[in-house]
Amino acid sequence: MNFTKLRIFLLSVLMTGCNVLPFQKKESNDNLMLAALGILASASDWVWDLPPGFPVPNVPAENPMSKAKVELGRHLFNEKALSGNDTMSCGSCHIQSLAFADGKDFPSGITSEVHPRNSQHLSNVAYLPRLTWNNPRMTSLEVQARVPMFGENPIELGISSNSFIDKLKSKELYRTLFTNAYGNADAAVNEQNVRFAIASFQRSMISGNSKYDQYAFRNNKSALNASEIRGLNLFNGEVAECFHCHGGFNFTDTSFHGGSPEEFFYHSNGIHDDAYYAGVPSNKRGLYDLTGIASDTGKFRAPSLRNIGVTYPYMHDGSFMCDNANNPNITIGKTKTDCARDALTKVVDHYRSGGQNHSAKDSTLIRAFTITNSQRDDMVNFLLSLTDEEFLTNPKFASPF
Ligand code: HEC
Ligand code: HEC
Repeated sequence: MNFTKLRIFLLSVLMTGCNVLPFQKKESNDNLMLAALGILASASDWVWDLPPGFPVPNVPAENPMSKAKVELGRHLFNEKALSGNDTMSCGSCHIQSLAFADGKDFPSGITSEVHPRNSQHLSNVAYLPRLTWNNPRMTSLEVQARVPMFGENPIELGISSNSFIDKLKSKELYRTLFTNAYGNADAAVNEQNVRFAIASFQRSMISGNSKYDQYAFRNNKSALNASEIRGLNLFNGEVAECFHCHGGFNFTDTSFHGGSPEEFFYHSNGIHDDAYYAGVPSNKRGLYDLTGIASDTGKFRAPSLRNIGVTYPYMHDGSFMCDNANNPNITIGKTKTDCARDALTKVVDHYRSGGQNHSAKDSTLIRAFTITNSQRDDMVNFLLSLTDEEFLTNPKFASPF
């Protein structure tokens, strides 16, 4: 198969597209010492309550899970003091009812600067060895959080000084939460511990109770109807080929968990042609933006399709969206499912037509195939069965504010 398998052993975690500011470059020994104390203070009370069929996620040794850290992270994820002007938090672009996506084609940060790519959903990010749409160097949640916090290209949360630490220190709530998580609020409220707690919270965001999961892993054979089962079989068959890139328990070929080798891939699924990519800036050209290799143009990580029924608009640039007539934000009486059904019909139509004429396309897998409209609708019904309502409403992941 014509997979582009990237085995890039980069010694640096240099972040392209994120100009880290001088004030937070100095990673002091104090920070490391405090992290070590934090490990001692809070390790070992964490029990993974994983859905059937889910492997244990890998957790970095320097940031073990703990209940207190996850709870602190849940607050910080939604804390607007974590932005340059107290107006936004991670939760502004990652909304629980949308599986932590945001329903927009492109989000903007505190200065209204528009991000070149679509906000990603965060279901099961614990299993992703490479984060974001197209950055193979982005290997940990602990590091990734720095991009929205401090990145200047584009500005997202726009933090430009250490005053956010002082703001947290001044709140009794955080003095308690940091003490619970790390042992000593005075010393523990620092930039690294903020990121580590947010990472722990995100690692806890496991989604595995969709209708599909009940059918496949909980032995409830009536959880899917006949159409959804036909769609599942088409999805996993050699006509439509979807499972090659969106396979496994997390519906993506990028995965890493206990005992398994790390795997990550980037593909072009042909949503644009060569002329399109020649005309857009580098930050919209996928893997090429990081490698500068022409044949990497238009290649992106295949997203996990979990909760796909609420994560529209689809693709890195929101190329596939419902028509206004089905958009719940525009038309009264339409639901998220109406919008997703419309947009997913377009997505499956895209794949069955074989997509655009793009030279970097995985053309053994992305090529025209023949299914009837009714089979296409079966596939859409199956995709909609991947929504986990419990995840979208679980108070464990909700904003405390
Ligand atoms: C302005 C909107 C915005 C804000 C604020 C924001 N994000 Fe994001 N998030 C995005 C976008 C856009 C992407 C895709 C990034 C890319 O491809 O470069 C993303 C991607 C991610 C990913 C990668 C998911 C994956 O599947 O690989 C994680 C994790 C994440 N964000 C966490 C956070 C955290 C933690 C915060 C707060 C510290 C945050 N985000 C704040 C818009 C935002
Ligand atoms: C060769 C690998 C490959 C195959 C085969 C493939 N996809 Fe994809 N898929 C991708 C990539 C890569 C993206 C992201 C592309 C982008 O954002 O530009 C994607 C995106 C999607 C999305 C949007 C996800 C989101 O969060 O925005 C859906 C839905 C989807 N694919 C469904 C399918 C279905 C259904 C099939 C089978 C008919 C299929 N894919 C076959 C690689 C593949």
